[in-house]
Amino acid sequence: MLDVLTAPAVPAVKRREAYLPPAWLVPEVALDIALDPATTRVHARLNVTRNAAPGEPLRLDGDGLTPLAVRVDGVAINDWRIEHDQLVIPLAGDAHVVETEVEIAPDRNTQLMGLYSSGGNLCTQCEAEGFRRITFFPDRPDVLATYRVRMTAEKARYPVLLANGDPIAQGDNADGTHWAEWHDPFPKPSYLFALVAGDLACNRGTYVTRSGREVELGIWVREADLPKTDHALDALKTSMAWDERVYGREYDLDVFNIVAVDDFNFGAMENKGLNIFNSRYILADADTATDYDYDAIATVVAHEYFHNWSGNRVTCRDWFQLSLKEGFTVFRDQGFSADQGSAAVKRIEDVRGLRASQFPEDSGPLAHPVRPESYQEIANFYTSTIYNKGAELIRMMATILGPVKFRAACDLYFDRFDGTAATCEDFVACMEEAGDVDLARFRLWYSQAGTPRVSASLVHDGGRATLRLAQHVPPTPGQSDKQPMVLPLRLRLFGAETGEPLGPEQLVLLDGTSESIVFDGIAERPVLSINRGFSAPVTIESDRTAADLAFLARHDDDPFARYEAMQQLMLDTLVAGTLEGRASHQAVIDAVADTLDNPALDPAFIAEAVLLPSESFIGDQLMTVDPEAVYRAREALRGDLGRALAERWRYIYETNASTAPYEYTPAAKAARRIRSVALGYIAASGASDAAALAFRQFERADNMTDRQGALTVLVSGDSDLREAALDIFYNRYAGNSLVLDKWFQTQALSSRTDTPAAVAALAEHPDFTLANPNRARSLIGAFAVNQRAFNVADGTGYRFLADQLIALDRLNPQTAAKLLPPLGRWRRFDPARAALMRAELERIVGTPGLSKDVFEQASKSLEG
Ligand code: TRP
Ligand code: ZN
Repeated sequence: MLDVLTAPAVPAVKRREAYLPPAWLVPEVALDIALDPATTRVHARLNVTRNAAPGEPLRLDGDGLTPLAVRVDGVAINDWRIEHDQLVIPLAGDAHVVETEVEIAPDRNTQLMGLYSSGGNLCTQCEAEGFRRITFFPDRPDVLATYRVRMTAEKARYPVLLANGDPIAQGDNADGTHWAEWHDPFPKPSYLFALVAGDLACNRGTYVTRSGREVELGIWVREADLPKTDHALDALKTSMAWDERVYGREYDLDVFNIVAVDDFNFGAMENKGLNIFNSRYILADADTATDYDYDAIATVVAHEYFHNWSGNRVTCRDWFQLSLKEGFTVFRDQGFSADQGSAAVKRIEDVRGLRASQFPEDSGPLAHPVRPESYQEIANFYTSTIYNKGAELIRMMATILGPVKFRAACDLYFDRFDGTAATCEDFVACMEEAGDVDLARFRLWYSQAGTPRVSASLVHDGGRATLRLAQHVPPTPGQSDKQPMVLPLRLRLFGAETGEPLGPEQLVLLDGTSESIVFDGIAERPVLSINRGFSAPVTIESDRTAADLAFLARHDDDPFARYEAMQQLMLDTLVAGTLEGRASHQAVIDAVADTLDNPALDPAFIAEAVLLPSESFIGDQLMTVDPEAVYRAREALRGDLGRALAERWRYIYETNASTAPYEYTPAAKAARRIRSVALGYIAASGASDAAALAFRQFERADNMTDRQGALTVLVSGDSDLREAALDIFYNRYAGNSLVLDKWFQTQALSSRTDTPAAVAALAEHPDFTLANPNRARSLIGAFAVNQRAFNVADGTGYRFLADQLIALDRLNPQTAAKLLPPLGRWRRFDPARAALMRAELERIVGTPGLSKDVFEQASKSLEG
C-alpha cells in the first residue's frame, strides 16, 4: 500500500512569530531497531524532562505511525491519544522515561523520507521532518538529545551496520542476525539522526587533526564502485584541513563515515558522523564523471563536512532559521572551492548559478525572504534563496567587516552557541559585536525578499566626477512596500584614455534610496567599474555605453568585473537582437577576439568570459519572454562569433587537445573547457566538418568531459552522427545509472525543435523511472529549464511537466514539488502561453489526494 496522502484543502500555515520553546526536553534517547525491509520494529526509550508549566502533556510527532505499545516509567499506559499526527501523553511529574514501539515498512517508503530501501540497502533521511516517520519524537530542531542506537539485522544481507557517533559494541545472534550499538556523545536534533544497514565496501582513510586526534574516515559504497571513491576521500581530507586553517574548526569524533545511495531527494545530508550522499556526489572516475562532476563532488563533500560546525555543533532553533546553517555553509564551501583552483572562475560560476535559479525565484510567485515568515511545507523552503542568497548575505557581512573581524565574529558565534540551537539574529549579533559595526539596517536582507535594482550614472565635469546611485527593491508576494537595503558596493574608476585606474577601489555602503559620490581630481573621462566581485546580490542598471563595457572587458583589474562587463555587452546586444530582430555584433566580436588574444589571462577565465548568457537569462531581461526570438538572436550572435573568429576557434581547438591521459588538474581542466567552448563555436559557425569533428572527439575521448562535451554539440545538431553517438553512449554505459542520467539530460537540453516530442518519448523509455529522483530530474527537470523547448507555443511542454509531476507526487511529493517552479513563470510570458501554464497549474491544484508539498507550490504559483 502507498502512503495515503490526505492533504487538507488548505494545509496549516506555520508562522515564525508563533515560536514557543518546547514544553518537554529529551536529554537522552535509546533506540532499539530490528531492521527488516518489510517490517522494521522500532523501540524508543526517551528520557524526558519538563521545560514548561505543569499540566502540559508530552506531544510526540509521528507521521504514518501507530503506537503498538506506550510505557511510562516502565508501566504500560492507555491514556494516550493521537491528535493532529501527535501522540499525546499526559505526564504528572517533571521527569519520566517514556517508551514507544512502532512498526514501519522501509520497502514501501517511496517518499525517501524516514527509513527506506535503496539498492537493497536500508538508509535514513530525516531532515527536515523525516524522524517522525521512524519513531514518535518531538521532531523539531531545538530538542537536542544524545542518542544510543542498537540495530539488529540479518547478517548475510546487511553485514554493515552504521549509525551516528562512535561504534560501541557488536555481536552475532544464533538466528543469523547480528547487532551493533553506536553512541553519539554530542547532543543533536532528530533531523541529524541516521543509520545505514547494507552490503557495503569501504574506502578507508585516516586524518589527524591539528590537536592530534586520529579520525578514521570511511566512504561506503557497493563493492563495484570502490574504485570511484578516491576523489571524494581526498576532498574530505582537504576539507578537514581547510576548516582548521581558515575557520579554526576541528573534527570532534573518532570516526567520520560517508555512505553513497542511489535514491536520494537532495544532494547529501550532514548527519552527525554519518553523512549520507546521493551517489552522484561521491562516485567519480575519468570515464564516467565530468570535470564539473569532480568539482561538484568536492564542493558537496566540503559542504556536508563543514556542517559539522555550522549546522550540527550549532544548529537551528526552528526551520525559519534554515539559512543560518545553509547560507553560512554554502558561503564556507564557496570559499573552500575558490581556494582549490581559480577563485575568479569560481565566483563567476556561483554568480551564474545565482542568476539562473535565485533571481527568477526572487522575482516570481515563490519569492520569499532568506528568513521566511511562514510556510506550509518546510521541504519547499530548501531553496536557492535560503542557500545561495543566504550565502551572499554572509559574504556581504564578511565584506563589511573585513577578513580579520569576520573570523573573530565567526569564532564568537561558534563559541557562544556551541551545543545550542540558534537563530539568524544570533549570528548577525555576533557579526555586529566582534565586527564593531552597526548592522541594524543590514538585517532587512533577512526579512525583505526581492532582488534590489541599483541604477548608477556617472557625470564628469571639469576635474570632478559625480556618481549617482539609486536603489529600488521590487514588490514581492506579501511585501508591496520595501525599505532601502544596505548594499556594499565595491567600485573603482578607470581612465578612458590611459586605461589606468583613477584612484584605489572603494567600498561604498549604499543605505538610502539614493546617494551621490564625488571624486575630485579626475582629469580624463572616467569609466565606472561597479559591484566588483559581485559584492552585493543586486542588478546594476548603468548608463555605460557599449564602448565603456568593451573598455572594461579589456582593462578592468577585477576579473569578475571584467567578465561582467563582457556579459553586459553581450546581454545588451542580445536584448536588442531579440526585440529588433537584428543588432550589430561587432562590439561583441571585437571584445571576444581581444579576450582570446590576451596572453595575460588565465585560459580557465577566458573560457567563461567568451560564453554568451543563457537563453533564460536573456529572457529575464525582457518584459515578455519570446523564447523563439531569444533563441534566434542568440544563435545569430553565436554564428557570427563562430564565423568571424573561425581561425581562432580552430587554433584553440587544436592546441588544447590533450596528449596525456586524463588528469584532474586546474590546467588540464581549463584546456578541456576552452576546447569545448571552441567546439561549440565551430558548430555554431555552420562549418561543414563540425559534426565530424565532434564525433571524432566523442570517439577518441578518454574521459567523460570530452565525451559529453562532444555529445552535447551533436545532440543539438542534425547530422547522422547524432543518433550514432547517442546509441554508442547508451550501449557503453548501460547499467550505469549516473551516466544514463547524462544521456537523458543531454537530450532534454537539446535546442532542436523536436525536443518536446523526443522528451515525451524518452519518458516512455524502459530506463526511465519516476521512482529515482536523479532520473526524474535528469529528464523532466532539465527539460523544464530548456526555455525554448519547454515553452513551445502549443503548450505540450507545460502539459508534459504537469502530467509527470502529478504522477511523481503519488510517489515522492518533495521531489515533485521541486519540479514545479517553471510553471509559475507564467507572468513573464505572452497571454496565450500564460493561459496554458495557468490551466496546468489549476489542473494540478484540482488533483485529488495532492500532497501539501505540491499544493503549496502550485497554489502560490497561481496567486503570487
Ligand atoms: N541539509 C542538507 C544539505 O544542504 C539538505 C538535505 C539533504 C535535504 N536531504 C534533504 C533537505 C532532504 C530536504 C530534504 O546539505
Ligand atoms: Zn547544507
